Amino acid sequence: MPHIKVKPFDKEKIEKLLPKSEILTFRAKPLSGEDELYGVVLEGEEFLLHLKPESDAYLIKYDKVTRPLKVNLLKEAIERTANELKLEILSSNITIHPGKSAYASAYEKKIEDFEEITFPKEKVCVEVGFGSGRHLLYQAQKHPDTLFIGLEIHTPSAQQVLKQIDLLGIDNIWVVNYDARLFLEMLPSNLLEKIYVHFPVPWDKKPHRRVISQAFLEESIRTLKAGGRLELRTDSNNYFWYALETFFALPKVEVEVRKNEALEVTSKYEARWLKMEKDIYDVYVTCKEESEEKKERLDFNFNIVKYREGQEQKLPKKPVVFYGYFVHFERVYKIGDDAMLVKCAFGSFDRPEHKYILVGKEQSRYFVSRPVKTRVNHLAHQKIVEYLTH
Ligand SMILES: C[S@@+](CC[C@H](N)C(=O)[O-])C[C@H]1O[C@@H](n2cnc3c(N)ncnc32)[C@H](O)[C@@H]1O
Repeated sequence: MPHIKVKPFDKEKIEKLLPKSEILTFRAKPLSGEDELYGVVLEGEEFLLHLKPESDAYLIKYDKVTRPLKVNLLKEAIERTANELKLEILSSNITIHPGKSAYASAYEKKIEDFEEITFPKEKVCVEVGFGSGRHLLYQAQKHPDTLFIGLEIHTPSAQQVLKQIDLLGIDNIWVVNYDARLFLEMLPSNLLEKIYVHFPVPWDKKPHRRVISQAFLEESIRTLKAGGRLELRTDSNNYFWYALETFFALPKVEVEVRKNEALEVTSKYEARWLKMEKDIYDVYVTCKEESEEKKERLDFNFNIVKYREGQEQKLPKKPVVFYGYFVHFERVYKIGDDAMLVKCAFGSFDRPEHKYILVGKEQSRYFVSRPVKTRVNHLAHQKIVEYLTH
């Protein structure tokens, strides 16, 4: 990633530059420490640059949380900042060709896309943790009238399958590189024909990381059509019994169990167990009734939050843990006398959000974009608003 090292300079000169700078919008100084953040607007994109003092130089680089997708924007912002401040450059990697960019495909969807999305097919299925994608690709080719949404947290596997989709000319798969445990709540009720959970990681030592849980099943039942089915396939005896117990606690479902049933397609993972003659279990959970439509409208505004003097000192210094989520004000920066920038981690423990919140005298907002509209993020947002208004 682009960065430069410059000769240490008087950072106060940034204050003078700010009113006339073409790209810098604010300077944020931490309550403790020597690093600084600079707000940038370039080609309509907002992000932050990070200045970090080192032993005999200042390093100017990107900020991870607000990093823009286009590396060239970062390069330009760093170069122009150095020029505007007339800094003496000691070393720079700005001319280095940016690394290989991620594989871009129209079939990759972000979790945010599901806040408002139209499904191109009437029938929709979900596959959780598709790994090599053998089952997902097979199903999509066999059922061109159905949209298959594949969820996978392992990015290289997601990228691999996106390449396969393009190579095979398939147009009825969406790949979402996101945690399946948080995804289903983005879907409307009574949508899905099937949810496939094939060979989930058993997590015997860390059961809280398992995909199958009471909450996941409740969301599965809500998103499945009446008559729709969740299909779990596992080689783990332990996971099988755990899942069965969880399934039986559900109302409005029918549970069916099979052992060593051959499927039309064998995943790479399954092939390994078959060679070892391991038992394989299937548990089918059929949803028997329609569910209510989702009504929640999750609002992430900061309408009542305005900067008040000394407020930065009042925020909790340590992470605050609530039931199923947390809020951590990681670092607080002052912007002049009447604004602050708060670096914050919050939401679910497994997939926390990392955001800055720009708290001003007149108005406040997430800098640069608001969190994904999930229930836990919303609970955390409400707590953040509470802390910022106390
Ligand atoms: C044991 S592999 C099985 C892969 C594939 N289903 C098969 O049968 O070959 C489990 C896969 O689930 C993915 N995974 C684990 N937890 C997940 C989660 N919470 N959300 C989405 N994918 C997950 C892993 O990255 C891995 O690719």
